[in-house]
Amino acid sequence: MSTTVSLGGADSAGTYAGWGASWGADPYADALRSGQGPLFLRRSDGWLLPLDIERWCAGADASDLSALRRCEGPVLDIGCGPGRLVAALSARGHQTLGIDVSQAAVDRTVRLGGTALRRSVFDSLPGEGRWGTALLVDGNIGIGGDPRVLLVRVAELLAPGGLLIAETAPVDVDERVRVRVDDGRGGGSSEAGSVFPWARLGTPALLRYAGPLGWRPADQWVASERPFVALRRSHEGSHNRNR
Ligand SMILES: C[S@@+](CC[C@H](N)C(=O)[O-])C[C@H]1O[C@@H](n2cnc3c(N)ncnc32)[C@H](O)[C@@H]1O
Repeated sequence: MSTTVSLGGADSAGTYAGWGASWGADPYADALRSGQGPLFLRRSDGWLLPLDIERWCAGADASDLSALRRCEGPVLDIGCGPGRLVAALSARGHQTLGIDVSQAAVDRTVRLGGTALRRSVFDSLPGEGRWGTALLVDGNIGIGGDPRVLLVRVAELLAPGGLLIAETAPVDVDERVRVRVDDGRGGGSSEAGSVFPWARLGTPALLRYAGPLGWRPADQWVASERPFVALRRSHEGSHNRNR
């Protein structure tokens, strides 16, 4: 696909107000600046989901490349974090934009030579309806806590026939949780962000949500124990939000 997406006029201020208190909070920013965890998503009952800060801050590895090889046209990396995928795609000549609600993530992506904006996926974005591929990697299918809403939004962002590449949980799970970012050092309010909704989906759950919204499965694979699914947006107009 030879489509390009104009990033002109995209200002980095964006409309991130309201998101800053979750992933934009200090523990995540500190971890990205140091390149080190430990860091977790913590549920109110104490359940902890470890966040792989060291891997996210390293270069793209073989399992990342298995997803990047399948990208088509201009790529939108949703929740780009510290930017390893944006940097790797840019180095391979893909027009790529990372978006993230965390200023520390955007800053690090730009330092790696990538293009990134501090925006929520639910804000107005450059190139809506023209992206060739959208990435939801490292658990980002959980963004917003409602997979149907996120899938509908991603369909609006992609060009007709565009590709969503999503990484799913390595277990058959379908859960919506309320979590906060926590450094695991005692959980005092100064060390943790606000509570926000998140979701965890295995591949069967993602396919169950995606089908009725008009997405077609295009590919499925596992690389270094990380499951990925590629879904193709229909060629028809926007998906029906009410389905
Ligand atoms: C599980 S981490 C994944 C990190 C990342 N993919 C990487 O390579 O490091 C989730 C990322 O999504 C971002 N995020 C959370 N909610 C978002 C939203 N509504 N829009 C865009 N990014 C969001 C967070 O700031 C965080 O960087």
